[in-house]
Amino acid sequence: MWESYFGFKKTPFSDRPDGQQLFASAAWQQVRTRLEFLAQHHGVGLLTGEVGAGKSTAARAFTDALNPSLYKILYVPFAAGTSLDLLRQIARALDLEPVRFRGDLARQIAEAVVRLNQAKKQHPILICDEAHLLPHPALEQLPLLLNFEMDSARYLTLLLIGQPLLRRTLSLQIHEALRQRIAVHYHLEGLTREELEAYLAQQLKAAGLSQPLFDEAARQTLYQATKGLPRKVNKLALAALRLAAAQKAPMVNEALMLDATSQVLL
Ligand SMILES: Nc1ncnc2c1ncn2[C@@H]1O[C@H](COP(=O)(O)OP(=O)(O)OP(=O)(O)O)[C@@H](O)[C@H]1O
Ligand SMILES: [Mg+2]
Repeated sequence: MWESYFGFKKTPFSDRPDGQQLFASAAWQQVRTRLEFLAQHHGVGLLTGEVGAGKSTAARAFTDALNPSLYKILYVPFAAGTSLDLLRQIARALDLEPVRFRGDLARQIAEAVVRLNQAKKQHPILICDEAHLLPHPALEQLPLLLNFEMDSARYLTLLLIGQPLLRRTLSLQIHEALRQRIAVHYHLEGLTREELEAYLAQQLKAAGLSQPLFDEAARQTLYQATKGLPRKVNKLALAALRLAAAQKAPMVNEALMLDATSQVLL
């Protein structure tokens, strides 16, 4: 086990970071502020960012911190399908057995959403992750779910998460209704060079090590190869550590990092 070579208590750079491993970058704080605003004021939020920038992780950390007696999270990751499939997924997230026809299905969802707010005093937050993959008709029907005939209260909060393409999609005329409802938006980028330093130290510490394992040149190479995108950083840092352990090196230097770069597909 390469972990024991360095004396790690657990594997660092996890793809499902626990509380100790979660890194609060400046951008991450910005996301959190906006999502908190969204949870309090309801409406529609948009979180975009490069692949592996930490969008889903940020959303998960945020919803985990919400009081479950006040909010019900309807997490709907994209699963290939039609706009009707999306409605069915939403219905299932609401613990409903989806009815057959579109009109009835929309009504079934709307009724459940109102019931949650009024009878259970729970506000539903619908999270559509990988929303850049949603077909246009699926996105187009979302504003209908946000309109309630009886009054103007906001019964449903919607958070759309996706890759940069989603921003461009939403700028199309057919999505004007949805775009106008977006109250908060944030575009998540990679960590800065300084944040990468802090991130590496935090990941090693959370895994039980306090001494640095990457020298200055290795950190610079790591940054250049990953642009600070957490998923890439994790992958490359792990590969470099494994190589260092295999070669019984005391720490990762530039040559080892370059070697790792050629071994992993970023
Ligand atoms: N704040 C963070 N603290 C620690 N690790 C993080 C953080 N954000 C992201 N990561 C790491 O980066 C990985 C990728 O993050 P995540 O899956 O949230 O990205 P994403 O933007 O949703 O990517 P995709 O576009 O592929 O859906 C996570 O599995 C985790 O290992
Ligand atoms: Mg994601």
